[in-house]
Amino acid sequence: MEKLPSLCVFLALLVHCLTLSFVDAGVTKISTDKQALLSPENLCGFRHHRVTALNISHLGLTGTLPPQLENLSFLATIDIKNNSFYGSLPEELLAQLRRLKYLSFSYNILSVELPPSIFDNLPNLQSVYLHENMLQGKIPSTLSKCQILQYLYLSFNYFTGLIPKEIGNLTQLKRVYLGDNKLQGEISKELGNLAEVEILSLSNNSLTGTIPTLLFNLSSLIYMDFSNNSLIGSLPDNMCQYLPNLEGGIPYEIGNLRNLEILQLEFNSLVGPVLACLQHLNNDNTFSFGK
Ligand SMILES: *[C@@H]1O[C@H](CO)[C@@H](O)[C@H](O)[C@H]1NC(C)=O
Ligand SMILES: *[C@@H]1O[C@H](CO)[C@@H](O)[C@H](O)[C@H]1NC(C)=O
Ligand SMILES: *[C@@H]1O[C@H](CO)[C@@H](O)[C@H](O)[C@H]1NC(C)=O
Ligand SMILES: *[C@@H]1O[C@H](CO)[C@@H](O)[C@H](O)[C@H]1NC(C)=O
Ligand SMILES: *[C@@H]1O[C@H](CO)[C@@H](O)[C@H](O)[C@H]1NC(C)=O
Ligand SMILES: *[C@@H]1O[C@H](CO)[C@@H](O)[C@H](O)[C@H]1NC(C)=O
Ligand SMILES: *[C@@H]1O[C@H](CO)[C@@H](O)[C@H](O)[C@H]1NC(C)=O
Repeated sequence: MEKLPSLCVFLALLVHCLTLSFVDAGVTKISTDKQALLSPENLCGFRHHRVTALNISHLGLTGTLPPQLENLSFLATIDIKNNSFYGSLPEELLAQLRRLKYLSFSYNILSVELPPSIFDNLPNLQSVYLHENMLQGKIPSTLSKCQILQYLYLSFNYFTGLIPKEIGNLTQLKRVYLGDNKLQGEISKELGNLAEVEILSLSNNSLTGTIPTLLFNLSSLIYMDFSNNSLIGSLPDNMCQYLPNLEGGIPYEIGNLRNLEILQLEFNSLVGPVLACLQHLNNDNTFSFGK
């Protein structure tokens, strides 16, 4: 693992970035040549160039994220996944990146809370990958300002508190992974507004209460995982009726629903609709209630 002062790494990257942007004036793609990355020849002037993509994923880099990133205001893509960047995501880091569409900081060791305003100025954001870090605190409700967000991956962190109901405003969301955190409270019924959602994974949290029936009306859903929470109640009798697309994915997911420990209280309520759904399936029996 390369241990370098973070500023140096980033300035070097920016130079590398700049060099490549001269080579290819289109979408800049940063190669993963560490030597090139770490041999800055000229640190001047990057501000004047339109770096649109920064990809330093899988390089074993370590350090904190410097606020200098903020001046790369033409960035549409930042991918730093799978390094060992630690510390916080400074408030100003993303403040000027209004063009940003794709952000991946996943598989690092970022900790501390996300500043509440972090999503304030990212109206073009479509993909947020922050999974597999050590992020704490609440999921900022300002996420709802990213109105065209489609992919939200926050799983495997230490997020606490409620699932912000404002997420329900993000009606273009397709994939929502919030599992393996410490989220609490009830699942907000606003999630029932996510008319495009295909994947909703909330497993391995401490969610309580019932599953809002509106969620069973989201016919776009392919994968729904609420396993290993503290949810109670029964599943609606007609749950299969409005989830036509679940057929393909149902064996595994229903298995997960079955795993909701407290649903066992009303296991009979569960059996009816589930059996109805299962009639559509092959007999490959990848689902099992009797684990
Ligand atoms: C960044 O580079 C890695 C490896 O070269 C690649 O797999 C990944 O898709 C790239 N990220 C983006 C956003 O293009
Ligand atoms: C992270 O990068 C290393 C190489 O540096 C690679 O072996 C590993 O598979 C990557 N892990 C993920 C989750 O992408
Ligand atoms: C970004 O650029 C502005 C103007 O050139 C400068 O004042 C500011 O200090 C820069 N920010 C960082 C974090 O370098
Ligand atoms: C989000 O939706 C709520 C109602 O659920 C509404 O009161 C609020 O103004 C909306 N926020 C944004 C940022 O659109
Ligand atoms: C449930 O989640 C907890 C952490 O919240 C974890 O320790 C436990 O192993 C999980 N159990 C199952 C069956 O996944
Ligand atoms: C839930 O937690 C358990 C135990 O840590 C883990 O084995 C399982 O993969 C997790 N489930 C999901 C869906 O992340
Ligand atoms: C689900 O959709 C059906 C058909 O559009 C509607 O009749 C029903 O009231 C809806 N259920 C809920 C809980 O909104």
